[in-house]
Amino acid sequence: MAKRDLISIHDLSREEVETLFELATEMKADPGLFANALVGKSLAMIFQKSSTRTRVSFEVGMTQLGGHALFLSSNDIQIGRGETISDTAHVLARFVDCIMARTFAHQDVVDLARFASVPVINGLSDDLHPCQALADFLTLREAFGSDLSGRKIAYVGDGNNVAHSLLFGAAKAGMNISIASPRGFEVATNYLELASEDAAAAGVQIELTESPVEAVSGASAVYTDVWASMGQEEEAASRLEAFRGFQVDGALMAEARPEAIFLHCLPAHRGEEVSAEVADGPQSRIFDQAENRMHAQKALLVWLIQSV
Ligand code: CP
Ligand code: NVA
Repeated sequence: MAKRDLISIHDLSREEVETLFELATEMKADPGLFANALVGKSLAMIFQKSSTRTRVSFEVGMTQLGGHALFLSSNDIQIGRGETISDTAHVLARFVDCIMARTFAHQDVVDLARFASVPVINGLSDDLHPCQALADFLTLREAFGSDLSGRKIAYVGDGNNVAHSLLFGAAKAGMNISIASPRGFEVATNYLELASEDAAAAGVQIELTESPVEAVSGASAVYTDVWASMGQEEEAASRLEAFRGFQVDGALMAEARPEAIFLHCLPAHRGEEVSAEVADGPQSRIFDQAENRMHAQKALLVWLIQSV
């Protein structure tokens, strides 16, 4: 069977996404059952950018499955001195059973998957963050049950990597999604078009607006992310201005459904995209969401590595 990768949630069928959620739920409930699932297996983790959650959840996840993970900062491996992605992929695949990469250019993770004979996981690129979306919808299933149809998630903020993967995740999980971004910071057209195809196939709606209130109206979950992503540090000040009025605060949460939960991929900037009262308030599920990175990724690792 051909190896599989996880570059984008778009590449998974709805049935495969459902399989991953069910496996993750089983693993979370009874981790001991899977303690030997990946004995003797190794995961190489390439990081071109910083990370707390992705690094720790993948490394601890591999340990819990009986396997091993290697942290490879791109500054410490030869990629940092110009070795090609192609040679790196070929070489790592001779040693390890899976590669996870956090990159700037999305093409780097695409090329790793192309040249490595082992599964490659996108641990965040400038364009997409599929592992985050798996954890996000696992968290939503825990809050509202496995049938999310008829519910809406609102994303308020930058049309970035997290927003793109949330679009795909919503379509695969069968949830309506509304995204509010300031003009000039909307989701990218190519990902919107692909996600719209997935949404049409799933019979769910994608709505885009410049109004945070319109986006969160009727929503069961309100999601935001930083206004300046990794690699956009120089734009941080101008973005503060551009995103004025897009903070998720108590007043905005009050426009959502009464049972609505608040989600954020983290790291968060309290006082910018989210107020402290919301991030640390009773509707917040941000730490469950962070924990669920590990459960979702353990399921992903077992699914990808065992099926090779
Ligand atoms: N949400 C997320 O990917 O966090 P890290 O950047 O800490 O990995
Ligand atoms: N959009 C953010 C997500 C961090 C997990 C970034 O790319 O920096």
